[in-house]
Amino acid sequence: MDRGALRGADATDLALENLMTEQQAFDHHSAEHAADPVCAYRAIRQGPGSVRTDAHGGYTVLTRYEDIAAAASDHSAFSSAFELPGDEGYGGGITLPRNPDSGRTSLAEMDPPEWRRYRRMLNPIFTPGAVSRFSPRIQAITDEAIDRFVTKGSCDLVLDLVSPVPAIVTLEVLGMDTSEWERYAVPLHTSVYIPRDVRTPAWQELQDGFRWIFQQIRDEIARRRAEPKEGDLLAAIMNADDPEGPLDDALVFETAYTIVAAGVETTTSLLSSALWHLDRFPQDRQRLLDDPSLLDAACEEFLRYYTPEQAGARTVAQHAEIGDESFERGERVLLAWSSANRDEAQFPDADRFVLDRRPNRHMSFGYGIHRCLGSHLARQEIKIVLGEVLRRLPDYAIDRQRTELYPDLGLMYGYKHMPATFTPGERKKA
Ligand code: HEM
Repeated sequence: MDRGALRGADATDLALENLMTEQQAFDHHSAEHAADPVCAYRAIRQGPGSVRTDAHGGYTVLTRYEDIAAAASDHSAFSSAFELPGDEGYGGGITLPRNPDSGRTSLAEMDPPEWRRYRRMLNPIFTPGAVSRFSPRIQAITDEAIDRFVTKGSCDLVLDLVSPVPAIVTLEVLGMDTSEWERYAVPLHTSVYIPRDVRTPAWQELQDGFRWIFQQIRDEIARRRAEPKEGDLLAAIMNADDPEGPLDDALVFETAYTIVAAGVETTTSLLSSALWHLDRFPQDRQRLLDDPSLLDAACEEFLRYYTPEQAGARTVAQHAEIGDESFERGERVLLAWSSANRDEAQFPDADRFVLDRRPNRHMSFGYGIHRCLGSHLARQEIKIVLGEVLRRLPDYAIDRQRTELYPDLGLMYGYKHMPATFTPGERKKA
C-alpha cells in the first residue's frame, strides 16, 4: 500500500488504542508516525482531541480544527517567538524540536508588536495584484525547466521540475543570483527529513550547506550597501521607508533568509504530492485535462489533502485553556495543520479527495496573524507548473517503485525523488 494513503477504521481503532495505553509515545518525527501520519492524527482527533507527550522535551499536540484555530488566533498566549521575553535561551519558535544550529526565522518567529513592523514592510510585495507581475517569469522558468528534458521522454519530476522552479522563482523575487539554485534547494529540502543527530556527517554536511547559503545572502547585502539596487524584494527590505527606521544588516539578513527558507521547500513538497496524486488517480488528471478551469479548486484541494507543512509549534506565554486542556507558561504546543485539514467537523467527507471541493477553508497556509505571506505567490507557481505538466507531459507515468516519500513526515509532507516517463515533446525554445 502507498504510504500516506488512507487506511480504514480498523487502523484508526488500533492507533487510538495504542495512544491510550502509551500516550507519552506520540512523536511526530518518529518512523511510526511517518508510516501513516493521517491515521495517527485521526486517532487523536476522533479520540481525546489532544495528547501530551514526553518526546522532544515534552509537548501537547492539538488536532481539531476548532482548537487549532483558537490557539493560532491567540498569539498572546500561544507565542511564535524564538525566545519568550524573559526566558532567553529557552527553545521556543515554530519548529519542534528547534534545530540546534539554526537562528530565528524573522517574522514567523516574532510576536506583535515586533512582528507587525516586518509584515507591514513585506505585505505590499505579496498581495495577489503584486505577485501577478511575477507570472511571466514563473512561466518562463517553468518552460525552461521542461525544455531541458521534454525531448528525452523521461525525467525526475522532483529534481528536474518541482525543485528548480520554486527555488529559482524565490531567489529571483528576492533579487539573488539564481545560477546555483541547487545549492539552496538541496540543504533546504534535506533539512526537513534527515535525522536530527548533530554528530552525524550528514548533519555536518547540511550545516555546511546552510553556511554557504547564509554567506551568499550576507555577501549580497554587502554588495548592495556598496552599490544600492532597486526593484526587487531585497531592495524593498533594505530601503523600506519604515517609521521605526531602516533595518540593520543582521535584520535584513534574517528577513531575506526567512523568505528563502519559506519559499523554496513548501511549494516543492506540494507540487510533488499533486503530481503523485494525478498519476495515482487518472480520473482526476482527465478531469483537469478536459476542464483546466478546475485547476483553481484543485490547487486548494491538493493543499488541503496533502498539507505540505504538516504542523507548526507555539510556546505558551501565559495561562490558557483550549477545550478541556489547560496550558501554562513555557509549555510547548504543536498545531497539526494537516489534522485540522482532515477534521470531519469542518470538511464533509474529509478523507475523500474532492477535486472541486467548495468551500475549502483549509489551514495549509496556517491561521491567524502568521498566515502565510507567500500564499498568492505559491498558488501562482502551483497552477503554472501543473498547467504546463498537463499541457506538455499529459501522459506522464511515475515509476512508483523508485519514488521516495520523505522518511520523516513530522514537519513536511513531500517526495524526495519521482522518476517518470512520458511521450517526448518539442522544446518551446530552440
Ligand atoms: C505551498 C507553499 C507554502 C505553504 C504550504 C506555506 C505554509 C505556511 C504556513 C503554514 C505558515 C504559517 C506558519 C505558522 O503560523 O507557524 C507560513 C508562513 C509564512 N510563509 Fe508560507 N507557505 C508556502 C509558500 C510560501 C512562499 C512561496 C513564501 C515566500 C516567498 C512564504 C513565506 C512565508 C512567510 C514569510 C511566513 C511567515 C508569515 C508571518 O509570520 O507573518 N511561504 N507559510
